[in-house]
Amino acid sequence: MTGSLELGPVAWPPTAITTERLVLRAPEPRDRPALIELLSTPEVHTYLGGPHSRDDLERTVPETPHQRPGLFVAERDGALIGTVELKRTKGEYRSPIGQDGDAEIGYLFLPRAWGHGYAAEACAAALDWLATALPDEPVVLCTQTANTRSMRLARKLGFTEAERYEAWGAEQWMGIRTGR
Ligand SMILES: CC(C)(COP(=O)(O)OP(=O)(O)OC[C@H]1O[C@@H](n2cnc3c(N)ncnc32)[C@H](O)[C@@H]1OP(=O)(O)O)[C@@H](O)C(=O)NCCC(=O)NCCS
Repeated sequence: MTGSLELGPVAWPPTAITTERLVLRAPEPRDRPALIELLSTPEVHTYLGGPHSRDDLERTVPETPHQRPGLFVAERDGALIGTVELKRTKGEYRSPIGQDGDAEIGYLFLPRAWGHGYAAEACAAALDWLATALPDEPVVLCTQTANTRSMRLARKLGFTEAERYEAWGAEQWMGIRTGR
């Protein structure tokens, strides 16, 4: 299948991407329990408006979790430890300079996978994939400045500050990484 997902004409699902310690691939039915854990764990959503209810997720997440071009599962030793998503922004911006249609990266990792460099390894591989699929595409990243782990990761990935602004009752940071 060739997905458009507004990202552009990218081949999806991709051939699994193997990094030093991880595999990045499209979601599969076996990911469902870990995905529900990821979306319902409070620490994961501290700076993202709060977790989803586990009961709601058990009811609504399909047996085969949704596949969207640009949505990668990061797998370590055969199990999901997080997700990395590349998508085009649509309507959710509160940034004065952000535009609908910007390519944006987002990431969620289970707390037990924090502090090992896995998120950085997975995001770098996903950004490389995008740079091959859509050369010269700039990518933006939005995060709360209070989210220190996310801020460190953003800078490590090569995002530089475009602006800071107030939204959802907190200071937000938008970084940009030019296409390469
Ligand atoms: C944001 C998030 C992905 C960052 O995870 P993380 O594990 O801190 O990020 P990294 O992969 O860059 O790992 C860095 C840490 O791994 C450590 N590390 C250990 N071994 C490492 C290795 N082999 N290579 C690189 N780093 C390593 C680093 O020293 C660093 O530790 P420190 O934070 O104590 O300094 C994670 O906190 C998360 O999922 N948060 C909830 C979701 C969220 O807020 N997302 C933001 C959406 S905008």
